[in-house]
Amino acid sequence: MSSCRVRCDGISKLQPDDNPEICGAEFLPKKCVAISLVARKTAAMAELSVAEALAHSGISRRDFLNFCGTMVAILAMPPRYVAQVISALEKTTRPVLVWLEFQDCAGNTESMLRSSHPSIEDMVLELLSLEYHETLMAGAGKQAEAALKRVVEEHAGKYLVIVEGAIPTADGGVYCTIGGRTALDIATEVCGNAAACLAVGACAWDGGLVKAGPNPTGAVGLQEAVPGLKLVNLGGCPHNVANTAAVLVHYLTFGELPALDQFNRPLFAYGQIIHDQCERRAHYDAGRFVEEWDDEGSRKGWCLYKMGCKGPDATYNCPTVRWNGGTSWPVKSGHGCIACASNRFWDTMSPFYKPLPEVPGFGVDATAEKIGWGVVGAVGALTAAHAVGSVIRGVKKKDEPDESDSATAEEAKPDSPKT
Ligand code: SF4
Ligand code: F3S
Repeated sequence: MSSCRVRCDGISKLQPDDNPEICGAEFLPKKCVAISLVARKTAAMAELSVAEALAHSGISRRDFLNFCGTMVAILAMPPRYVAQVISALEKTTRPVLVWLEFQDCAGNTESMLRSSHPSIEDMVLELLSLEYHETLMAGAGKQAEAALKRVVEEHAGKYLVIVEGAIPTADGGVYCTIGGRTALDIATEVCGNAAACLAVGACAWDGGLVKAGPNPTGAVGLQEAVPGLKLVNLGGCPHNVANTAAVLVHYLTFGELPALDQFNRPLFAYGQIIHDQCERRAHYDAGRFVEEWDDEGSRKGWCLYKMGCKGPDATYNCPTVRWNGGTSWPVKSGHGCIACASNRFWDTMSPFYKPLPEVPGFGVDATAEKIGWGVVGAVGALTAAHAVGSVIRGVKKKDEPDESDSATAEEAKPDSPKT
């Protein structure tokens, strides 16, 4: 029997007999969150401030303060802003949030829910009054669609929208319909009337996997489907909830969105090249590379460049913010970065296990404005040259070429035009 994480005791009007299936003693954490959402609505919690909502939810003052400090750190702001964030969140009334899912795998929702308690994910669910979320809400069918309609009518220009998934445009958008309406129609109305929108995950940003060739449904990201929105793109596959929370905290504290790059991604999260933040960088600099899975270098944590790591051509803050409550990130766990937060990464960064120079579109990802397109390509080119140089050093040392790596062995030949 799973333990109950529902924080609706004392505020829910539901009784076990109302719905024994989800109000009984045994249910999954996800359903706990679902019933918690119902509880908030039925108990009119939408009018509570963030601080009041946190208190109702059993989140301690200490956890709240830690959360504010973490958010300021993620936003790359000086520590003196912590007090301002605390003050703002204590006073502000939680804005209404609508979460739309279109062509998606629900991975971004899952990323929000896979949490330890209390966590950033828990906090996010308390920062906002979540009025509509197909996966989480207990209501369904006409009842659910009526809730969405009510938000658009009663909170026009004030509510926030999080969009997960791509939007099909081929054949009039018929490849994704909800309640008889196309995703394109829903996004146009709901996002068009919002104060701001957050596109979470690769699919909502640039179409992601759904837009990858051959894209039979004509899928696009939100900004292409509905141009002109006040929008933040939080790419990644999935999004990192810590970054999404930081954007929301910035909005609630300062009344505006954080600084964005040319892809409308927040600079605090997408402004630095992963390669420059990587804990394996010293091995890269020393020319120590993993040559095959589970070799000695793999067990010693050497650089994964030759196993296809795209870190030199990708930007994201996952090396510092990490995943699973800050436990780890892909490269730390032993797998190369596949640049999941980069533009059109399914098409431009595959094959994922080939070193960068063999990847079609290498160097097309752009970083933050101040870094610029060319620098990224230069970083990638220098990376390739560095890896080649490392092999050459290895050749001289061992006095024989490494035939296991055809590309670098070719580079190492004396008559190779690239040397
Ligand atoms: Fe880290 Fe990948 Fe760069 Fe190696 S190539 S230092 S594993 S980001
Ligand atoms: Fe994605 Fe690469 Fe980070 S695959 S999670 S950007 S290490």
